[in-house]
Amino acid sequence: MKITVIGAGNVGATAAQRIAEKELANEVVLVDIVEGVPQGKGLDMYESGPIEGFDSKVIGTNSYDETANSDIVVITAGIPRKPGMSRDDLLSTNANIIKSVTEQVVAKSPKSILIVVSNPLDVMVYVAQKVSGFERNRVIGMAGVLDTARYRTFIAMELGVSVEDITALLLGGHGDSMVPLPRYTSVAGIPLPELMTKEKIDAIVKRAQNGGAEIVNFLKTGSAFYAPSAAAVQMVESIVKDKKRVLPCAVYLQGEYGLSGTVVGVPVKLGKNGVEQILEIQLNDEEKALLKKSADDVKTNIDKVKL
Ligand code: APR
Repeated sequence: MKITVIGAGNVGATAAQRIAEKELANEVVLVDIVEGVPQGKGLDMYESGPIEGFDSKVIGTNSYDETANSDIVVITAGIPRKPGMSRDDLLSTNANIIKSVTEQVVAKSPKSILIVVSNPLDVMVYVAQKVSGFERNRVIGMAGVLDTARYRTFIAMELGVSVEDITALLLGGHGDSMVPLPRYTSVAGIPLPELMTKEKIDAIVKRAQNGGAEIVNFLKTGSAFYAPSAAAVQMVESIVKDKKRVLPCAVYLQGEYGLSGTVVGVPVKLGKNGVEQILEIQLNDEEKALLKKSADDVKTNIDKVKL
């Protein structure tokens, strides 16, 4: 197993470290355009192996030659948000970066599975899918795993229970209009609405929707990376180990949930072939309307991208 991470910044470097520490690949390749940074971080990580007890080899480089024949490529290249910016403000800069990165990745690793992390996430998945020409099951966006992790954290904080017992589902784009589904959220099987008032749930949903901005406002010079890298690596793990976990991921839709030609987060089964199934669940009218609004917001941005 060979895994490449493009972008050796906060998200990329932390993702590479997690992949190496979990020994999800024999070889981890870290790529960035800035000279020296991937080489330095890669070597530093490699040298943590004897202490952490992993044998994954970590290589940092500015070239795509070393990425050849990667099984999975995690794309984190791009600029992050600053306070006051929305993810959509990153659109044109990151679309150009993702286009160029994807072209270079697929030239060397035509059979790889792409996991896109750069924002605005859903549009970047669309760009990577179009530019790569890959089947849609091999181009997957990381957003829902992160958004549900935030949502689950806030529920655990409120109820004083283990995060491990909270399962949650979330649909839609990775933006303010993402759609957490309290009806499909449970604590050890107990539906969330039985444990919390609607007001409390609404406040938690709102905090999860603004979860990225909350971190940006603290950091001021960048955006979240511990939880985003953990989320991307959970997706990597499900693919590497063919675990077939059901996780909310962003994929190009062709009629599912009544949506076509756009990318939004939906529950998928992740295994060795990437997205092996899109699960369609019953939504009530309110949830359908929220998903439609979220998909429309993504589509508006997709239409702004010139490929
Ligand atoms: N090719 C390779 N690497 C690139 C390119 C490119 N064309 N353009 C930029 N990069 C690199 C930068 O040099 C930098 O090292 O991408 C890295 C981004 O790292 P950070 O600035 O630390 O940003 P990070 O917090 O990692 O976020 C990256 O993920 O979560 C999203 O919104 C976030 O879009 C952002 C992305």
